[in-house]
Amino acid sequence: MKIIKTVHEMQEFSLAQRTGGKTISLVPTMGYLHEGHISLLREGKNRGDVLVMSLFVNPMQFGPKEDFSKYPRDFDRDSGLAKSAGTDVIFYPDVQEMYPEPFKTSVYVAELSGMLCGKTRPEHFKGVTTVVMKLFNAVLPQRAIFGEKDFQQLVILRQMVKDLNMPVEILGMPIIREPDGLAMSSRNTYLTMDDRRRASSISKGLLNATEAFQKGLKDGKALQGIVRSDIQAAGLKEDYIEVVNEKTLKPADVVSDTARIVVAAYAGNVRLIDNMPLKKIKKKK
Ligand code: PAF
Repeated sequence: MKIIKTVHEMQEFSLAQRTGGKTISLVPTMGYLHEGHISLLREGKNRGDVLVMSLFVNPMQFGPKEDFSKYPRDFDRDSGLAKSAGTDVIFYPDVQEMYPEPFKTSVYVAELSGMLCGKTRPEHFKGVTTVVMKLFNAVLPQRAIFGEKDFQQLVILRQMVKDLNMPVEILGMPIIREPDGLAMSSRNTYLTMDDRRRASSISKGLLNATEAFQKGLKDGKALQGIVRSDIQAAGLKEDYIEVVNEKTLKPADVVSDTARIVVAAYAGNVRLIDNMPLKKIKKKK
């Protein structure tokens, strides 16, 4: 496994691979890998000839009062896990390499970036789209793989690629969960034992809502209410609970087959996000 730290070397490597007829899969990460990332790496390995994982804790997507400096970092652990999952290259630039001074350009996907998480984190998605565009320009992948846990991020990146005619296929992979249902996230390491126990109420609420949907409940507000009562009973603080259209992220008052229920809530000081699709399971005849 190669470790590449500069954009120039990364581009040279990728151009040589592409000239040789190889396809490149990219899994962008901020490190502190968990099973969710590993599932993305495995998918990338199956889908392409060369698997690149980027590891960059992107300062541009953290707000001034957010956790950039304390975000968990452990390169040795991450590189071991990435290697076992079949990664060929870790692209591991530093902040100066990604944002050399003066840095003046950003990519912003209007409307979608201001909804849901964008209300509490107004600059966050601008940081994500800018860094992902830069990672695509450095790694030159034919496809990039992201987790559905950050569902809004996935929708925004699909829109960016479409709007800017970028020749990269965006793949979204299902959320990987802990045994009690909590969606895996590098930020789960911040949870105290008590908050960790209470955090599983988010996925329980989502599961209860999807079950009610399967039994015929289609009213968006009523489905939201089911999740709300579970997370309130566990003492979590809601940021938002919404039933949204999967493409536009606009509220769906009456649920059709392309809706998703999305949640952000605080367990103690830790902001957690999760979601589940509201899709009718077709009964076999
Ligand atoms: O999902 C993440 O970990 C980050 O937002 C990403 C896509 C690696 C960009 O920094």
